[in-house]
Amino acid sequence: MTDTIKTQFPLLQQKQNGKPLVYLDSGATTQRPQAVLDAVKHFYEQDNANPHRGAYELGERATAAYEGARAQVASFLNAQKEEVIFTRNATESLNLLAYSWGLHNLKAGDKVVVSILEHHSNLIPWQQVCHAVGAELIFLYTGQDGVIPDEEIEKKITKGVKLVACTHVSNVLGLVSPVEKIAARAHEVGAVMVLDCAQSAPHLKLDVQKLNVDFLAFSGHKLYAPLGIGVLWGRRELLEAMPPFLTGGDMIDSVREQDATWAPLPQKFEAGTQNAGGAVGLAAAIRWIQSIGYETIEKRENDVYRYLWDELAKMPHITLYGTPEGQHCGAVAFNVEGVHPHDVSTILDADAVCVRAGHHCAQPLLTHLGLRACCRASIAVYNTREDVDALANSLQKVRKWLGYGT
Ligand code: ALA
Repeated sequence: MTDTIKTQFPLLQQKQNGKPLVYLDSGATTQRPQAVLDAVKHFYEQDNANPHRGAYELGERATAAYEGARAQVASFLNAQKEEVIFTRNATESLNLLAYSWGLHNLKAGDKVVVSILEHHSNLIPWQQVCHAVGAELIFLYTGQDGVIPDEEIEKKITKGVKLVACTHVSNVLGLVSPVEKIAARAHEVGAVMVLDCAQSAPHLKLDVQKLNVDFLAFSGHKLYAPLGIGVLWGRRELLEAMPPFLTGGDMIDSVREQDATWAPLPQKFEAGTQNAGGAVGLAAAIRWIQSIGYETIEKRENDVYRYLWDELAKMPHITLYGTPEGQHCGAVAFNVEGVHPHDVSTILDADAVCVRAGHHCAQPLLTHLGLRACCRASIAVYNTREDVDALANSLQKVRKWLGYGT
């Protein structure tokens, strides 16, 4: 039966080596539906000018498109428009936070807590700032199942912790972190709570009024939007107290020879010409997601996730990481006994099956789990059980290709 969601993605209609493309790497980047491609094309064909600069009708249309995109993101997050800062991606959002909030609020002896699950983008900026100011970086460790135990939260988030930065969903294991507990504990000790939503935004409804966090970051390209557009959301009073990260055009109030004053939010954090086409694409992606609805997304993805886990768990010579218990989205990590993950990925590619192999930009997590590398199949709303069947069929061949009997 034709899947009406998948058919909206032109890229997924192609064949490779005469076989239908099976894209199971949406944790790295999603594909874009026609509605997003059309919106971006329309912007560049009809409305493109430099937002906030042109005092002519076309310039005003570009500004309206860009600021309209911000309003769309704000309503998506249940936030105020001024609290939504456009960046290139979650990485840039987290660097902005580390260098602006971190460098100006942390001092020697303070403590910063991250989890061992972090993607490098929510780890290295905090390492750098801790090195610069002499703060201590502390880890919430998981068990071998990838779950952060409650005792770890109690034990590590204590007085003296000024900031807690945690991923909402592990990009390797697909497990949803106990954000409610972590955020409550962070606030109990007076710390600021940062949530990396790069891997959760495509799968879970984000509501900043309910999440009880102070800052949140995500990338558009993992949310069916173009590459090069991301979001930082922050509580207004915190953003207002922060100095700019990047300086230059459009982020100023007035400039004299030796100094300058800053524009109000959100412009203070948006120096230089912004990716208005990307923002328009992100707004279109949000409208597209809302037209499907998170309830449908979660239902479809949970079904495919569960099927994926169960099919791989049945296969001999496959080790799965993490646990199928609890709330998951998006990803299943695994290895094939005796075969390097890069070889697995290359062999699957011959059957047009795309999975990611390597350390997944989460080296401390892999080291903690006793691994150097693994494969990861990651799903989005367009994936179906047929995609899982194609992966499982192709996986049957991997060890045989390399000369193992079974
Ligand atoms: N952060 C992306 C991933 O997990 C690139 O694959």
